[in-house]
Amino acid sequence: MIAAKRDRHELSDPQIDWVISAYTRGVVADEQMAALAMAILLNGMNSREISRWTNAMINSGERMNWSSITRPTADKHSTGGVGDKITLPLAPLVAACGGAVPQLSGRGLGHTGGTLDKLESIPGWRAELSNEEMLKVLQDCGAVICAAGAGLAPADKKLYALRDVTATVEAIPLIASSIMSKKIAEGTSSLVLDVKTGSGAFMSDPAQAGILARTMVELGKNAGVKTRALVTAMDVPLGLTVGNALEVRESVEVLAGGGPSDVIELTLLLAREMIELAGISGKDPESALKDGSAMDVWRKMISAQGGNPGAPLPVARENQKFLATESGRMVGMDAMKVGVAAWRLGAGRSRQGEKVQAGAGIELHAKPGEEIAAGQLLMTLHTDEPERFPRALDALAGSVTIVAGGAVNRLPLIVERIQ
Ligand code: URA
Repeated sequence: MIAAKRDRHELSDPQIDWVISAYTRGVVADEQMAALAMAILLNGMNSREISRWTNAMINSGERMNWSSITRPTADKHSTGGVGDKITLPLAPLVAACGGAVPQLSGRGLGHTGGTLDKLESIPGWRAELSNEEMLKVLQDCGAVICAAGAGLAPADKKLYALRDVTATVEAIPLIASSIMSKKIAEGTSSLVLDVKTGSGAFMSDPAQAGILARTMVELGKNAGVKTRALVTAMDVPLGLTVGNALEVRESVEVLAGGGPSDVIELTLLLAREMIELAGISGKDPESALKDGSAMDVWRKMISAQGGNPGAPLPVARENQKFLATESGRMVGMDAMKVGVAAWRLGAGRSRQGEKVQAGAGIELHAKPGEEIAAGQLLMTLHTDEPERFPRALDALAGSVTIVAGGAVNRLPLIVERIQ
């Protein structure tokens, strides 16, 4: 099969079923699956292969059942970005508006952060719940954000961790099947996909991101899930923080009615899409942020998973300033460079199973569009291990473009909407 894909042949349905099952059982070794993943990344798969691969991953495990939940279920999934903490305010917000949000989330992948890594920076919070616990939190709070149980798409769990460390993440067939196998097995009745594009996304080219979005919407619809996708900007990091505890802090600011405007805008936009798609007739999301009802759900949901929503968040032991070297207008900030720097500071992992640092990451003090003076503080870097600073600073070289009187060069927040 490795040779077939290397030589640009199609994989048959039985071959796909076999390799996914054999890899899950440990019969196919990691190095063989890594080679196959790389061949798929380089040579692609057609829609029959992608659909079969997705089904084989769903069939590698169990399917969740939320039929005892009376509210309509609504979920969103992001393909991953830098500073993309939207799930944190969004899940309680949609719950406050009348939805049930079973948000089974992942860990950081490559330079992008993971929702579970972020939430684990809250003292006491547990990502791993039994199916009964998940159902109870969802029933009691209206939203649950947790790790998919070991039984849900186990093939993807192994493959996702392998791709993370073998430079095989950025492949449309592998991303689409990874996300949709989990979302279909998770059993949500409606799903809004936030497909990121720009330098900080796995699909930096908007046209490729559009293809990924259409591929996933088709997989969802064919499986009977009401699915919609937005292709959104990830050329610049979202908000003003990148890193686990830093992003939780910013999410809580949004739930408290504050926070950076881009995070608020995208949270409200996705909330409205989810509400409309799921047919939820409750509160308007903007009022649920203003009147504190989304914050109430957040606190309840965090406490239900052992977390203390009032506890101080971890802070990294060391920090370093990153200053502007010239004056002018900031016209660009490369999300990928910022993401890689945060990763190198310890916010992400470079080996399977490695621990991430809760406090590591980057605070942004300016964003594109602002006038900057030479010597001005642009970013603060945080880590527990100061020996990480030099490589993080290397990654930040050229991350910010400052010119005299230049126009801001950014993608629009919403690049495309696919229904
Ligand atoms: N998120 C996933 O769940 N899988 C991918 O492959 C990429 C992002």
